[in-house]
Formats: sequence, structure tokens, C-alpha cells
Amino acid sequence: MDEFVDIDPNVRKARGLPAAFYGGAAVHTWALERLFPGAWQPLPGECRDLAPGTARPWRLLPGGLDEPLLVTRESDGGLHCLSNVCTHRGALLLEDEVRSTPLRCRYHGRRFDAAGRCLGMPQMDGQPDFPADGDHLPALPLETWGPLTFTAPDPALDFASWLSGWADALPPDLDPTGWHYDASRSPTYEVDAAWTLYVDNYLEGLHIAHVHPELSRLLDRDAYETHLLPHGVLQVGTAKDGDTALYGWFFPNVMLNLYAWGLSVNVVEPLAPRRTRVRYLTFLRDPATPPSGPGGDLDLVERQDHAIVESAQRGVASRLYRRGTYVPGWEDGVHHFHRMLAARWNADRARG
Ligand code: FES
Ligand SMILES: [Fe+2]
Repeated sequence: MDEFVDIDPNVRKARGLPAAFYGGAAVHTWALERLFPGAWQPLPGECRDLAPGTARPWRLLPGGLDEPLLVTRESDGGLHCLSNVCTHRGALLLEDEVRSTPLRCRYHGRRFDAAGRCLGMPQMDGQPDFPADGDHLPALPLETWGPLTFTAPDPALDFASWLSGWADALPPDLDPTGWHYDASRSPTYEVDAAWTLYVDNYLEGLHIAHVHPELSRLLDRDAYETHLLPHGVLQVGTAKDGDTALYGWFFPNVMLNLYAWGLSVNVVEPLAPRRTRVRYLTFLRDPATPPSGPGGDLDLVERQDHAIVESAQRGVASRLYRRGTYVPGWEDGVHHFHRMLAARWNADRARG
């Protein structure tokens, strides 16, 4: 699969992505090498409560990018996201959380402070030009929205541009910054399908009536809206009791779902060409008010989505499958995603 992909800008005429984008090994590799290193990703929810002086190792997109990182909090409260790879000979600096700094590499003892600055190393101290700039741990950018902190190894877009349109969609008096992370309601799922199929499914409300009968009974189908954002899609679901749910997706794999009770984040992580992890992060507006309404039984909705997406995965792998069409007014978000993905793919083909 090396050819350019043309998705007509007119949703009424366009045909969808070729099947190679749904589980092909070459597209999977391309996405991990070219797309995901530039994509903003939320830090694990627990990092929010990291105590001063603590450093915690984590991997960005484990099984996919597998980038070893550290989150550290300085005693003055400053948060850092650093490489977890020692700048001497590449040992992983930390395997487990530590509660004191400096960090000390267990291979030959190189020391770093909580901001990643190399402080020294036995047998090297006093050497001219040591430590030099290249001896400090590479630091990744950190940005916040609401209760979430995001990072990216090599951002393709500045953070504000990436999220543009989201803040404007929220009620003006809403401030989710202090909402409470609920680890017990933040499960991780795995699904036997390409990450692109999972995103496609998220980006249309057309299937709700067919796949989610329980959710469908709560939502006013005629009031469902889809809005295209510069780097995302916003869907608005209105419950029959008047509550609205905002479903924001940001290219390529972050979903911010805002309900009356709080925020549910889904991070869609490619594991293999046809296997995907979906990581939930749940933040409650008020810990005494559990999820209810359209975002109440998210586990049921998730399992219903998995079943249908896994079925579609088996279908698109068929030698008889041809590029599909879009339902105007309902699948404009899917079309928007495909146009973005094709543009990135084509830009890389043009580069040669
Ligand atoms: S690899 Fe860390 S000190 Fe040598
Ligand atoms: Fe669904």
C-alpha cells in the first residue's frame, strides 16, 4: 500500500478509506512512526496527584510507541515529563516510583534532578565540559486543559490549535480544573480491531439507534448534532430530559466526553494492526454524584461498540470489501477524520 489516497471533499460523492487503513501492517507502522509521535496524549490520571519530590515512570502508548518517560514533581510543585533513558549508556533510569531526588541511575550512578538536569556522575565529576547540554534528560512539553495534562514527544501542532473549538463549545461558567480523578471508574479495554475502525465508530451517532438501544432510549435523535473543528469533531447529544452530552474527538486518538456528572476521556491506542487499547480516564464533578443519564452505563456502551467494531474488522478484511460511502448529515465527522488521515498519508508519500 504505497499509493496516494483520494477522499473527495464532497461527502456526498466521497468513498471511504481503503481497507489497508483498517488493519494493514504498513499503515499501522506508518501511524506509529509518523503520526503518533506528533500527537498530544493525556498523562495517566494518577499523575495529577503526584506528591512533591516524586518521580514516576510510565510508557507512552505501551505496546505501540512504547516511549519510556518519567513524570516528576519538584518540591515547589512544578511538573515535568522527561525521558526515562539515562543519557550515559541508555539504561532505564527508573523501573518504579521513587519519592526522593536526585534520581540516580542504577547502572553507573549518573544523577539528575527533578527537572532532568544532570548533576554529575562518579568518575566524571570535575571533567571539563561535563555535564553538557546533551547530558540532561530530554524534556517533553506539558500542556493542560481542565483536569488533564497532555504531552507529545514531537508535537505536530501547538496545543491551542489542536484543541481549537473545544473550549468554545463548553458552557462559559464551566471550570473542570478541580474535578476528581476516579481510578475505580477508569478501566482499560482491548478490542480486536484497528484503531481507525474504533475512531470511525465514535465519530457517528448513526449507529446509536441500532447498536445501543438503552442509550438510544435516553437521547433525542432529532437533536443530535455534528460539528467539524479544525483538528477534531464535536458531537452534541441531547437527552430527552434536556441534559446535553458533548463528545469531542481530537486527531488522531483522544476523545473528551463531557456529561452533566463529569468528564470521561477515551484514549485510543494502537497495539497491533488489528488490536487496539482504549484507556478511560474518568473525572467526577462531585465525588458524591456517580455517572448517570447518557454517560451512565459506559461499560455497556463500550462492549456494544466492541462487538460491532470487531464485526466490521472481520468484514473489511474480506477480499470482496470495497471503499464505502458516507451518510451526509450523520457521517461528516468520519469523512473529516478520513480527509485528515489521507492528507497526512499523502504528504508522507509526496516526501518520498
Ligand atoms: S547508563 Fe546510566 S550511568 Fe551509565
Ligand atoms: Fe457507539
